[in-house]
Amino acid sequence: MKRLTEFDELADPTFSAAVIDWQRQHGRHALPWQNTTDAYRIWLSEIMLQQTQVAAVLGYYARFLERFPTVESLAEAPSEDVMALWSGLGYYTRARNLHACAKRVVAEYGGQFPADPALLAELPGIGRSTAAAITAFANGTRAAILDGNVKRVFARVFGIDQYPGIKPVEDALWRRADALLPESGIERYTQGLMDLGATLCTRSSPSCERCPLRERCVAFASGRTAELPVRKPKKTNPEKRAAMLVIVHGSQVLLEQRADSGIWGGLLSLPEADGHLSVDEAAPDVLTAAGRFGEVEEVQALLPLVHVFTHYKLHIYPHRIALAQRAQVDGCMWWNLDAIADAPLPAPVKKLLIELSRPSLFA
Ligand code: ADE
Repeated sequence: MKRLTEFDELADPTFSAAVIDWQRQHGRHALPWQNTTDAYRIWLSEIMLQQTQVAAVLGYYARFLERFPTVESLAEAPSEDVMALWSGLGYYTRARNLHACAKRVVAEYGGQFPADPALLAELPGIGRSTAAAITAFANGTRAAILDGNVKRVFARVFGIDQYPGIKPVEDALWRRADALLPESGIERYTQGLMDLGATLCTRSSPSCERCPLRERCVAFASGRTAELPVRKPKKTNPEKRAAMLVIVHGSQVLLEQRADSGIWGGLLSLPEADGHLSVDEAAPDVLTAAGRFGEVEEVQALLPLVHVFTHYKLHIYPHRIALAQRAQVDGCMWWNLDAIADAPLPAPVKKLLIELSRPSLFA
């Protein structure tokens, strides 16, 4: 008996049949990049439609084709002209890649876009999904698309309850996309998936009552269309702490030059008992750490403060250190507290020192 591979298990010809039937009756048929097999026109539309909706693309598409009717004319154009015509459509890397791609198609393929999706995907701005869409529409090549809209359709229909942006989930979606391809009718199937994602299986308030996949849709059956696809998990910012040493002599405070790389690179700051440690780690021994500046007479914990970076939250624990003698340490300098506002300090450290140097608090 033939052993089933995962691919066979994922295959289901009724899926593509439902999409194709629906596209024939309810899909979009008169978009300006349809009803042509001109790879240049199809490529241009697919690049413009990456991250941008049809309505926003229509005017740009017409103007581009009027100004650059062939891939050669686009390749030869000054880049300022290409950028100017793209202006307002957004995601300008697409325009730079578009121009670079046109030049390569002319130089390497004599102006003919390759029909092999693997070759197309090596050109600038053309990922695996866009390559598949171009060759499906231009050449009838049986290749799977998996753009954001299709990921949403698959996540809902198959009830995929993991975030589709991570590699193993995306790989699994590609395997499904490949396995579900129809034997024939790739153009209509590809357009149907795009149309379903754009018109019915929308991110919010999908029109499930009109969907040809409703009966097989896990999200619909379980009332989870609002939860699927799973959104990108929010990263919880780690919490770190730093024990800072406030070493004062007369009206001066000891500041240390920080390394050029890393957080607060190149600034002066208060010396620290250690680096920015995770709050889970053992608290540093402040008395021992302060020992590198000389004999410590007293350690007094001051009120902590919190500083929020984009990547972590830092709890600053300042400690006032009284030394037996004024220290002279390499990489450190004494700074007048009454000029502390002029010091190149990280904002929370400056704030802390300004507060501490108010005579009433620091007596
Ligand atoms: N989005 C991406 N490609 C598309 C196409 N060919 N038609 C409509 N929307 C699309």
